[in-house]
Amino acid sequence: MIPSMTPPAAVIADATAYARAVEDAARAAAAYCAGGSSPLDDDAYDRLARGIAAWEAAHPEEVLPDSPTGKVAGGAAEGDVPHTVPMLSLDNVFSPEEFTAWTASLARRVGREVGRFAVGPKLDGLAVAARYHEGRLTRLITRGDGTAGEDVSHAINTVEGLPGTLTEPVTVEVRGEILMTTAQFEHANEVRIRHGGQPFANPRNAAAGTLRAKERAYTVPMTFFGYGLLALPGTDAALAGRLEELPYSEAMSTAAGLGVHTSAGTAVPEVVVETAGQAVARVQEIAALRAELPFGIDGIVVKADLAADRRAAGSGSRAPRWAIAYKLPAVEKITRLLEVEWNVGRTGIIAPRAVLEPVVVEGSTITSEFAVLVADLLG
Ligand code: IVH
Repeated sequence: MIPSMTPPAAVIADATAYARAVEDAARAAAAYCAGGSSPLDDDAYDRLARGIAAWEAAHPEEVLPDSPTGKVAGGAAEGDVPHTVPMLSLDNVFSPEEFTAWTASLARRVGREVGRFAVGPKLDGLAVAARYHEGRLTRLITRGDGTAGEDVSHAINTVEGLPGTLTEPVTVEVRGEILMTTAQFEHANEVRIRHGGQPFANPRNAAAGTLRAKERAYTVPMTFFGYGLLALPGTDAALAGRLEELPYSEAMSTAAGLGVHTSAGTAVPEVVVETAGQAVARVQEIAALRAELPFGIDGIVVKADLAADRRAAGSGSRAPRWAIAYKLPAVEKITRLLEVEWNVGRTGIIAPRAVLEPVVVEGSTITSEFAVLVADLLG
């Protein structure tokens, strides 16, 4: 069983604590998007974001522009290649109860119970859009701020699962996640150390750093997992029409048929189920396999499979309403608080930082934690 584990929202008592929380969240989001080591793990970030959202709901006129709540994926560096369709993020649930509430709200939007869900792993990497023109991979773009992303086409030949040429000469955009498998991560660090560099803290940082690095003396492989297939300007009208109407699961098998790597060949392939109960059961099966997977996942994504249901559900500005990320509990470790540093932040706010005895959590070495969490620690 997966325990119910909605992380409690961080408690934000006043405008000063709110400003401090926004500053911490913005710093963590910027570090995350830049591929550096984020000072907050996923759960801590979610707690902070929930606390921020709760405070903003009560004080809508005082929302700060830096707040992560209105931005795609907490805000990202703006890139220079516009996306044809925004690359959205996903809303999260943390328990079977929250998941059931989501399926109920989905049914309300669609006007009836949804009877087909695709359930698959949430890959812990970086979202990219890969553009194929007449079957040839011409451009690779990061998500960026969701509207425009950075051109990382220089990495094209280093990504396994993203073929240079598709099995058919079609013009399409494949979206998915680039990550390093555990083996690729270990290899990347060996090569990096041999070249006199510092090892990456975890596979996600390694993939982010490698994807963006332009002029390295060496290349190390990464892996792509596709989770989206869409038309581009120039796509044949019949194919574009078909892509609009295909169930999600069939779009994914079409992508696999074109030669794109998906979760299909892994121990946790995406499966189609018919009820919310079956979806939760599949979530639990995938969660149970997490520790032995050769790549990192940070949750399970559940999607309405049928095109008509997805259309009826629609999308918000941040996330589609037809899909949800069922987040898995972060791995917890206990360490010692060595001291608290009191730093003055950019806006003049004092931001306490807990200096911790270094502890390795899922490949990342954690040495400090930020403000709101420290406030909790100190009671
Ligand atoms: S579907 C948002 N499926 O998680 C449009 N996303 O935290 C539909 N992600 O932005 C996305 N694995 O980059 C989808 N199997 C999967 C995924 C997945 C990882 C990423 C994606 C998304 C982010 C949200």
